[in-house]
Amino acid sequence: MFNSRRSFLKGLAGLPAMVAAAAVYGSEKNLRDDVEETKLIMKDHRSIFNMKSYAAPAISNIRVGYIGMGNRGLASMQRLTQFEGVEVRAIADCYEYPIERARQYLNSIDYPAPAEYYRDENSWRDLIERDDLDLIYVTTPQYLHSEMACAVMEAGKHAACEVPLGYTLADCWRLVETSEKTRKYCGILENCCFDFFESLTINMALKGLFGELVYGEGAYIHYFPAETIFEEPMPPLSKKGGYYRFAVGACNKGNRYPTHGFGPVCQAMRINAGDRPLFLTSVETDDFVCGKAFEEILARGSEYHKQFEGVEFTGNMNTSLVKTQNGKVIQIQYDRTSPRPYSRIHMLSGTKGFVQKYPEPSRIYLDHNAPLSDEEMEAVKEDTPELTKFLAENAVKFGGHGGMDFICDYQLIDSLHNGLPLNISVYDGATWSAVTPLSLWSVTHGSQPIDFPDFTGGTWVDNKPFDLSLRGGGTTIVTPKNPKE
Ligand SMILES: NC(=O)c1ccc[n+]([C@@H]2O[C@H](COP(=O)([O-])OP(=O)(O)OC[C@H]3O[C@@H](n4cnc5c(N)ncnc54)[C@H](O)[C@@H]3O)[C@@H](O)[C@H]2O)c1
Repeated sequence: MFNSRRSFLKGLAGLPAMVAAAAVYGSEKNLRDDVEETKLIMKDHRSIFNMKSYAAPAISNIRVGYIGMGNRGLASMQRLTQFEGVEVRAIADCYEYPIERARQYLNSIDYPAPAEYYRDENSWRDLIERDDLDLIYVTTPQYLHSEMACAVMEAGKHAACEVPLGYTLADCWRLVETSEKTRKYCGILENCCFDFFESLTINMALKGLFGELVYGEGAYIHYFPAETIFEEPMPPLSKKGGYYRFAVGACNKGNRYPTHGFGPVCQAMRINAGDRPLFLTSVETDDFVCGKAFEEILARGSEYHKQFEGVEFTGNMNTSLVKTQNGKVIQIQYDRTSPRPYSRIHMLSGTKGFVQKYPEPSRIYLDHNAPLSDEEMEAVKEDTPELTKFLAENAVKFGGHGGMDFICDYQLIDSLHNGLPLNISVYDGATWSAVTPLSLWSVTHGSQPIDFPDFTGGTWVDNKPFDLSLRGGGTTIVTPKNPKE
């Protein structure tokens, strides 16, 4: 099934990355084919090896490579260089500028220089073939994640991949199948699962403190003014991420960035660990912003933007609903273009309690009449998971979205150090990422429901839920490295 996609991508190889991305995601037919193919595969899919419970052999000194030294890659590397038992051995990008920035940072902390790969957009292929790497971070634009993460696993290394894992169902299946076949992890760096309020409320939910969770809501509502969405990429690096925001965030229908909102709610509601998504339906407003802004840009005579004429823009708000096997419902929203406050919602509604993170201040209700008072909230913080408590001080110190990025990196590295199963499996990453193609399909088919694939191959029934205890880990030592003056 992947041959057709490969030859399609091959045909795009000579095009600039932006155009290639727009074309790949601009093809409704392509995504529809994916869905049809996935339906066929689902009938035959059997999990050949359960990566959710798999504990790969412990690695005392983890040799790390990076593909993509932009904003996320550099920030992650700055955190990993604080960990004992981690060596950054090799870094890749398609431009030298991000490599130079990484070089300067590493030099400032007297870190041994890693090997560098930046000849062109294929240099990362040389990096993954090195025989001295255990783990490779994929921190490139979204549309490159699945190809790179699969190649990493095929090359015998664990992959840690930025969100989302893939953009098509074929991508998601290929990641699951490659991980099972190679027995290499494909961890998704879904940092929002480790934010303080999310991890507290996930822990409380898993302890049953909200009764049976019946309904949840998550979202990525993050306003980007049109001028940043249409920002012309300025190689070597677009500092504002315009490189991918336009192609990935504003073109096409459907929820283009589902994992930050859906992931934490899935963890609280035991998705892939006692329950599973059954089907999804999605409805979307028209676009009232991007098309107009785009016309104005064209009218100003932008040569660069002419190549995108005719692109269909994402509606302002996409709302998807997922019904689960156990009769629960999860709503996931996506809106990058309406001028409204940031929100991931993170709402959990149970038979005995209710949680809502946004709009802040975040609230927990154990009685429908009133939220917990400030004093009661302090008392409830006792239920903060062991891992979060253990890392809180360092997380705040080293930061990354208020500390959740630090916790996300730490628990991944610590799992590898101690031979523990990953907290977030490839099945979770594939499930959360699959909302993009499924919602696109639904929106372009009159909001009809579409079956949600079971990436776990049936193992969701017995899989263990998200575990934020230390699980016998917590041995990774953090030694701050201060840059030289
Ligand atoms: N988890 C989060 O909170 C969060 C936040 C922002 C972005 N992200 C995700 O992180 C990823 C990276 O985002 P960013 O903000 O760092 O983007 P960025 O544009 O700053 O960095 C991407 C880097 O990848 C490089 N790159 C592009 N093609 C390449 C290739 N073929 N080979 C090697 N390098 C290549 C670019 O030159 C750039 O340096 C995106 O997928 C995004 O979805 C996640």
